[in-house]
Amino acid sequence: MFKDTFGRVHDYLRISLTDNCNLRCTYCMPDEDYDFTPASKLMQLDEITAIAKTFVDQGVTKIRLTGGEPLVRKDAAQIIQNLAALPVKLAITTNATRLHHFLDLFERVNLRAVNISLDTLQPAVFKKLTQRDQFDEVKRNIDDAIARGFDVKINMVVMQGINESEIPDFVAWTKKAPIQIRFIEFMPFSGNHWNNEKTYTLDQMLNNIQAHYTIEALHNHVHDTTKRYRASGHVGEFAVISTMSSPFCAGCNRMRLTADGKFKNCLFSSKETDLLSAYRNKEHILPLIQQAIHEKAAKLGGQFTENLLTVDSSKIENRSMITIGG
Ligand code: GTP
Ligand code: 5AD
Ligand code: SF4
Repeated sequence: MFKDTFGRVHDYLRISLTDNCNLRCTYCMPDEDYDFTPASKLMQLDEITAIAKTFVDQGVTKIRLTGGEPLVRKDAAQIIQNLAALPVKLAITTNATRLHHFLDLFERVNLRAVNISLDTLQPAVFKKLTQRDQFDEVKRNIDDAIARGFDVKINMVVMQGINESEIPDFVAWTKKAPIQIRFIEFMPFSGNHWNNEKTYTLDQMLNNIQAHYTIEALHNHVHDTTKRYRASGHVGEFAVISTMSSPFCAGCNRMRLTADGKFKNCLFSSKETDLLSAYRNKEHILPLIQQAIHEKAAKLGGQFTENLLTVDSSKIENRSMITIGG
């Protein structure tokens, strides 16, 4: 069992399959000519399976595949099949551009939990944000996944001046759709041009929504990243991921493996443990993971002593979001 010095049990592993992506979201990718990691430096199929098994043997019950965009990886289907054979709840976070190629497989291997990044319902804004013109395919794939009964959550990174005016439209989507819309406070990562004026906070979101809807708060599970709500009479729900204004580290159960095989004990940890090199050198990786968990800070990678919203983002030591996977 992976228990840290604060008594938090870590049973959720996020595995990034690649830092490659077919969209170019500015809040995630450092810049247009970003060099993707060469394939030889990425964990290979058998390495991912073996390393994941070490985690599962120690009590991990949930694995989420992330990217970049996990479904652009050529062997994504085999990876999913291998991991689905482990006794875990398998989940994925995707941009949905390639989802139509995978829904049959997801059904076969019982991968039901599909979180999808979609920051706007307007094709023109989508093109501006992602620098690609694929809104219609993405929306069609999302609607298809919902119609087929997948457990769909929509991740909307809210950026002041760009898409906060669309929040009520996203809530409107939950009137008939059994989905969870998650409004995410924009977070700083290397090269993503974050500044606190762009972060639209939990309080601002709730004020915005309450101007249009009557809402009730729902029960939150201890490990959730979200604070959950429902607009009166809606079948679906919405939630807020409030890392910036109200972090939720006390209930953290998450560990991360980057596509190049580095273990991160926190989204904001600057220290990483090179599990892939150790595995390739035939060293035991379990003690390395245990040590990294032992070193986990109480919150936010131990990097922030002040209010996160007033932090100088140039001083944050971390990777870019595209190389972490959220
Ligand atoms: P569920 O398993 O459905 O609860 O999803 P999730 O929220 O764990 O994962 P997802 O990949 O959908 O991430 C949604 C947002 O939450 C992204 O902005 C992530 O960066 C953020 N997030 C995920 N895990 C953590 C975490 O441990 N800490 C913080 N601060 N943010 C996180
Ligand atoms: N701040 C907050 N969330 C982000 N994501 C990507 N970049 C950021 C950021 N800078 C979210 C995307 C994706 C999830 C894995 O992380 O919405 O769905
Ligand atoms: Fe856990 Fe770090 Fe996220 Fe806090 S910021 S919830 S400690 S991963």
